[in-house]
Amino acid sequence: MRDVQFSERVEFLNTESAFAVLEKANRLEAQGMEVIHLEIGEPDFNTTDIVKEAAIRALNDGYTRYCSPTGLPEVREYIALHAGLRRGVRFSPEEVIVTPGAKPLLFFAVQACVNPGDEVIIPDPGFPIYESVVRYSRGVPKLVPIIEKDDNFTIDLDLLERAITPKTKAIILNSPHNPTGGIIPRQDMAAIVSMLKDKNILVISDEIYSDIYYGEQPVSIAAFPEIRDQAVIIDGFSKSYAMTGWRLGYGIMPERLVEKFNKLAVNIYSCTPPFVQLAGIQALKEGQSSLEKMVGEFRERRDILIEGLRNVPGFSCPTPRGAFYAFANVKATGYDSRVLADRLLEEAGVAVLDGAAFGEAGKGYLRFSYANSQENIYKAIEKMQRFLMKSRNAV
Ligand SMILES: Cc1ncc(COP(=O)(O)O)c(C=O)c1O
Repeated sequence: MRDVQFSERVEFLNTESAFAVLEKANRLEAQGMEVIHLEIGEPDFNTTDIVKEAAIRALNDGYTRYCSPTGLPEVREYIALHAGLRRGVRFSPEEVIVTPGAKPLLFFAVQACVNPGDEVIIPDPGFPIYESVVRYSRGVPKLVPIIEKDDNFTIDLDLLERAITPKTKAIILNSPHNPTGGIIPRQDMAAIVSMLKDKNILVISDEIYSDIYYGEQPVSIAAFPEIRDQAVIIDGFSKSYAMTGWRLGYGIMPERLVEKFNKLAVNIYSCTPPFVQLAGIQALKEGQSSLEKMVGEFRERRDILIEGLRNVPGFSCPTPRGAFYAFANVKATGYDSRVLADRLLEEAGVAVLDGAAFGEAGKGYLRFSYANSQENIYKAIEKMQRFLMKSRNAV
């Protein structure tokens, strides 16, 4: 390429380390090494046949053209009903926008509301895309730590309160949480709501893991009517229905914000493929038993993984309450978490993510995705135990 200067903006974008680790793991596998993949955040289940058949039907019925940038009317209607029932509230179809995956919603929310210099509160550790999109909009990320508390990970309420300033434009919440598997308890969510209500702060609630939990159902920001007018709820099909590659998500927000998202959609991708939308509706209508089966399987894997991690020398790990991640504290191993993640991959053949890839507060932790078989989880634990015993003996 000739010496064309890139925009300043594009240099602010960051990426997700999971893809880089996956690539490195694949390279090692190609060289003949056995690698167990606990790095990537997608269900290892297949999209159900019911959903695939609905897509084929929709294709045959001619759903292959442009459609409304906000989504097919019948799809918005069904999402409003389904998402409302799940959260015990009522949504109107006009509050719903259908998007190609959940990621555009994060991007749109920040693009629509954040001006240069505006502060956006984000969880640390957190999904790396949050900080990336805030920086891209020239906003200022204000990181608030997610802390270990009562065998859970949740946002530090005192630090959150102190992080709110007159410049705060938005806050991103994520429960169940990537990378920790923590869930914001109801009373903490109520405290967050009373901190934010009556302030001109947009609450971006990333609820993409809302269907994957192992105890009490996570409370949605939508359950607090006093904050509904400033909340954007983000959810989708990637995780709940094993549809990561289909690219289908939805947002629920005040109508005046839907208008802005609509414009952004028209400028970027025009619309979400209509046959994919119709497949998604079939997932909502008929996919509940496969969702329950998947969550049941995740729970068994979680229990195996947590028990195993607690038996790896130097590891400790709160019990994940949702999503399919465990976030183990590895400080007692004496290793820097980045070095340990690298060595576990290169020497033990276990691909995991350094917690620091999710923010400064993730330093000293490793993220394990248990979207892998029970057999492989047992194997990974054995390999890690062996590696850490050996390196401990070597000290
Ligand atoms: C917290 C969180 N939000 C959003 C997403 C993006 O979801 P989608 O694949 O539907 O864009 C992910 C995916 O890993 C995630 O972990």
